[in-house]
Amino acid sequence: MFFKLAVVLTLLVINSVADDVNFTYNGFQSTDLSLQNLAVVSSNGLLKLASTDYSFFTAAAFYKDSVKLKNSTNGTAFSFSTTFVFAIVPDLLFRDLSGHGMAFVISPTQGLPYASATQYLGLFNYSNNGDPSNHIVAVELDTFQNEEFEDIDDNHVGVDVNGLKSVESHGAGYYVGSTGQFRNLTLPSGRPMQVWVEYDNQEQRMNVTLAPINVRKPKFPLLSLPIDLSPIVNETVYLGFSSATGRLRASTYILGWSFMINGQAKELDISKLPKLPGSASRQTSKLLTIGLPLIFMSLVYATVSGVVYLIKRKRKFADVVEDWECEYGPQRFKYKDLYMATQGFRDKGLLGTGGFGKVYKGTLPTSRQEIAVKIVSHGSGQGMKEFIAEIVCLGRLRHRNLVRLLGYCRRKGEMLLVYEYLPNGSLDKYLYGQPKVTLNWGQRFRVIKGVASGLLYLHEEWEQIVIHRDVKASNVLLDGELNARLGDFGLARLYDHGTDPHTTHVAGTRGYLAPEYTRTGKATTRTDLFAFGAFLLEVACGRRPIEPQAGKVVLVDEVFSFWQKGKILDVKDPKLGTDFAAEEVELVLKLGMLCSHSNPVARPSMRQVMHYLEGDIPLPDISLLSLTASGLTFAPREGSEDAVLPHLSLIVESVLSGGR
Ligand SMILES: *[C@@H]1O[C@H](CO)[C@@H](O)[C@H](O)[C@H]1NC(C)=O
Ligand SMILES: *[C@@H]1O[C@H](CO)[C@@H](O)[C@H](O)[C@H]1NC(C)=O
Ligand SMILES: *[C@@H]1O[C@H](CO)[C@@H](O)[C@H](O)[C@H]1NC(C)=O
Ligand SMILES: *[C@@H]1O[C@H](CO)[C@@H](O)[C@H](O)[C@H]1NC(C)=O
Ligand SMILES: *[C@@H]1O[C@H](CO)[C@@H](O)[C@H](O)[C@H]1NC(C)=O
Ligand SMILES: *[C@@H]1O[C@H](CO)[C@@H](O)[C@H](O)[C@H]1NC(C)=O
Ligand SMILES: *[C@@H]1O[C@H](CO)[C@@H](O)[C@H](O)[C@H]1NC(C)=O
Repeated sequence: MFFKLAVVLTLLVINSVADDVNFTYNGFQSTDLSLQNLAVVSSNGLLKLASTDYSFFTAAAFYKDSVKLKNSTNGTAFSFSTTFVFAIVPDLLFRDLSGHGMAFVISPTQGLPYASATQYLGLFNYSNNGDPSNHIVAVELDTFQNEEFEDIDDNHVGVDVNGLKSVESHGAGYYVGSTGQFRNLTLPSGRPMQVWVEYDNQEQRMNVTLAPINVRKPKFPLLSLPIDLSPIVNETVYLGFSSATGRLRASTYILGWSFMINGQAKELDISKLPKLPGSASRQTSKLLTIGLPLIFMSLVYATVSGVVYLIKRKRKFADVVEDWECEYGPQRFKYKDLYMATQGFRDKGLLGTGGFGKVYKGTLPTSRQEIAVKIVSHGSGQGMKEFIAEIVCLGRLRHRNLVRLLGYCRRKGEMLLVYEYLPNGSLDKYLYGQPKVTLNWGQRFRVIKGVASGLLYLHEEWEQIVIHRDVKASNVLLDGELNARLGDFGLARLYDHGTDPHTTHVAGTRGYLAPEYTRTGKATTRTDLFAFGAFLLEVACGRRPIEPQAGKVVLVDEVFSFWQKGKILDVKDPKLGTDFAAEEVELVLKLGMLCSHSNPVARPSMRQVMHYLEGDIPLPDISLLSLTASGLTFAPREGSEDAVLPHLSLIVESVLSGGR
């Protein structure tokens, strides 16, 4: 009886507030939102709109349901209030120039498919900008000064009605406490900030307030303008955010959002908001550039952690931490955290066992970020300092086609490497060994270009030359959209450091090892090119470079003999069917042979490879390169590479000698 009554009461309550939309998200799930173009919700609940990885793109995310914003009887817009936390993280390469910005938007449609990128912020396009039939109201967080829209500066907040020429705008900042002193803020600072937007239909006024995340809502709004939304917005609207990149790029994020019609939107719980990616590593670089006081503090920290270390070493979760490691603070994970994250390295979470060791899936307890933890055993402590300096260095690599190394942890005899987790696993699973899902040619070609772009970055575009040393399909992981991400870069060095440092140990995988590398043990960018060649053939033919069964068939020899017979396309993966671009397949196969040349000097550079793949320059006629079957495979050509090749073998020498 009581139960029934309670149900009835609940229903009544729900009914009476059903029209007054009211929601609060301290972090999102992808089902809460309609995501468009680049927009994604990461596993820790962070909404990412635009991305530094993509130029000239738009992104938008809308609340999943429509919202009734006007009284249908008298056509008056309701009062509402909303608050959200955002962050604009500029491209690290162009710190001072940081994309175009983002906007909170009220739109008649769930999506703005005709809107343009760059200065149009994904809200409008050249022809509909300023058109009253748009029925769009937006609050822009604009990080670029466009003369055409009479922007006041390149760091302002504005209210836009149907167009990008703001009705009212103000330089970003906030009024402190009751004194009302104004403080500037930099929108693209990479730090989270909070915005409040309030509309009062009696007063016909809209207020917009901005503040850093750790500051309570300022008493005085940044913008307060008279406006009647009733003639502008539609009765049923969609609420969301849009953002765009141009040649200038920034990543834009929403961390949390609440909204309420006819009432005060619920305060966000700052402690529950998802963390921004890489916030730890940004702190590191700060640490290293700030002067004496911090050095003193880190000395104290070093002493304290030294003491803590002594106390802790007997415990179960003992990490091995040497004092020189303290400077790597945030990139060093605690063993205990990784133990918790992987629920004690259970077999259930085992993702795979590779040449280097076991890999487990985990979720970091505080940020809820999904990770992959690789456990590698190592021998003596010799060379460990260099190796860790190198890991930390590799952790600073950022490229859309590289798997991010988030950090490491060290125990006695064990090294744990923490990577971002990629749900689709490694490429080899889609190529051979009875794949459940195979990739079509378009997807494979995109994967190839992605890997090439990642390798080019390692070889030529980063501050130091990084040699991968183990390029192969099983080291290529696929993200949610089947983009290739090259993993495990530079780690073959572990063998050099972990075992006896006086013998040069050739690390890598058979079938991908350049002949000069097996002889001299010296890895170069050209040895990576050799492995990349094997990888190209592997992807086009859907087979391993050396098939262990079938009497050790060497793939490159087979491609070579098909090419000699003038039937190179016949060697391609039969699983490709008939839907493929013959000229692309041929290009990839020939390029694979060219990269497999036993003379390292005859192999192209990664930049040339990129040009060939993009079709910028035609592939040289390989018949002119005196290719012979023996030239392609393991027969060494005397006196060639050692004399010709400069000593490219890298890596972090400058880090080790000069400090940072
Ligand atoms: C807003 O919604 C939440 C949960 O849906 C509810 O608990 C709360 O009472 C609502 N607030 C108002 C003022 O209606
Ligand atoms: C809508 O307007 C009518 C007439 O002005 C009024 O009676 C009614 O209460 C309003 N409805 C809401 C939900 O405010
Ligand atoms: C019209 O509707 C709005 C919103 O519901 C309400 O605030 C207002 O009082 C209504 N006006 C009249 C004249 O009833
Ligand atoms: C928005 O309202 C206008 C004017 O009432 C109407 O012409 C238009 O079709 C509406 N848009 C949508 C998407 O409903
Ligand atoms: C601009 O957007 C409108 C819809 O608002 C669309 O009809 C039009 O084709 C777009 N124009 C361009 C040049 O994209
Ligand atoms: C705040 O920004 C404005 C506009 O860019 C500038 O004129 C002013 O000097 C800045 N104030 C401070 C204290 O930096
Ligand atoms: C907007 O700000 C003004 C000035 O601080 C204040 O008087 C007014 O009540 C505010 N209105 C809303 C809807 O918050």
